Amino acid sequence: MDRTQNLQRAETFSFINPWIRYSLFFFSFLFWVLSLLIVAIGVYAKVQKATDTMRDTFLIDPAIILIAVGVVMFFITFCGCIGALRDNIRLLNVFSLSLTLVFLTQLAIAVLGFFYSEQTRDALGKFVKKAIVHYRDDLDLQNLMDYIQKEFKCCGWNEYTDWSWNLYFNCTQGNPSMERCAVPFSCCTPIPGEAVINTMCGFGVQAQNYLDADKSIYPVGCADRAVLWIESHLLLVGALALGLALPQIAGIVLSQILITQIRDEISSVL
Ligand SMILES: *[C@@H]1O[C@H](CO)[C@@H](O)[C@H](O)[C@H]1NC(C)=O
Repeated sequence: MDRTQNLQRAETFSFINPWIRYSLFFFSFLFWVLSLLIVAIGVYAKVQKATDTMRDTFLIDPAIILIAVGVVMFFITFCGCIGALRDNIRLLNVFSLSLTLVFLTQLAIAVLGFFYSEQTRDALGKFVKKAIVHYRDDLDLQNLMDYIQKEFKCCGWNEYTDWSWNLYFNCTQGNPSMERCAVPFSCCTPIPGEAVINTMCGFGVQAQNYLDADKSIYPVGCADRAVLWIESHLLLVGALALGLALPQIAGIVLSQILITQIRDEISSVL
């Protein structure tokens, strides 16, 4: 009787912990679905847009970036899913290695961005300058700039006169545009008690000096505002970074544990 029980236990015993195995499967599956969603959004954005102003602004069309990130994520999480489900060491190794590579790349970008903050700022400035130049050519770009300016309470990159970069807002004498010397409405300070917002509040502002402009708009450039925002939201920035890194680290650790357990299982059978 004892002997049969022992034999049965030996047959059902496994070095592979089902909790490790199925949590790895579950999380891989979750991010696999997410990757499909990201690809779908990227394809939708790509199909929807006829113009290439986004590509002119960001060097690469953000829709293409979304699709690329989604596809890479799709293959990595697929390896995790099937590797966990089938106890496939090779797939789990591919999963673990790719995830490590992705993690280290992100870490390198973050560290470089931090130590070369001046260059990072210049690079971002180039994007914003192009976004200002193309402000009227692309509704998405317009919405993005409006969102940034409203959210950060700022105008332009260095300051409000940056809007001269745009053909329509250019303050040069003889510019036939109706909006000559204006800044977009999204630069405007809301006037307390004013029920109807004056969409013309930015008109002629570039011709005014900083102090006068300050009465109707936020004249501060968005670069300075963004730096201030990051400094005052360090905790949030850290939490976001952790939110990005934690699932990757968990995936690497879980897959490594599972690989070890599968190896133990194989050598115990042999
Ligand atoms: C405004 O337009 C003029 C004439 O086209 C141009 O020379 C000038 O560089 C523009 N201003 C800015 C800030 O780009």
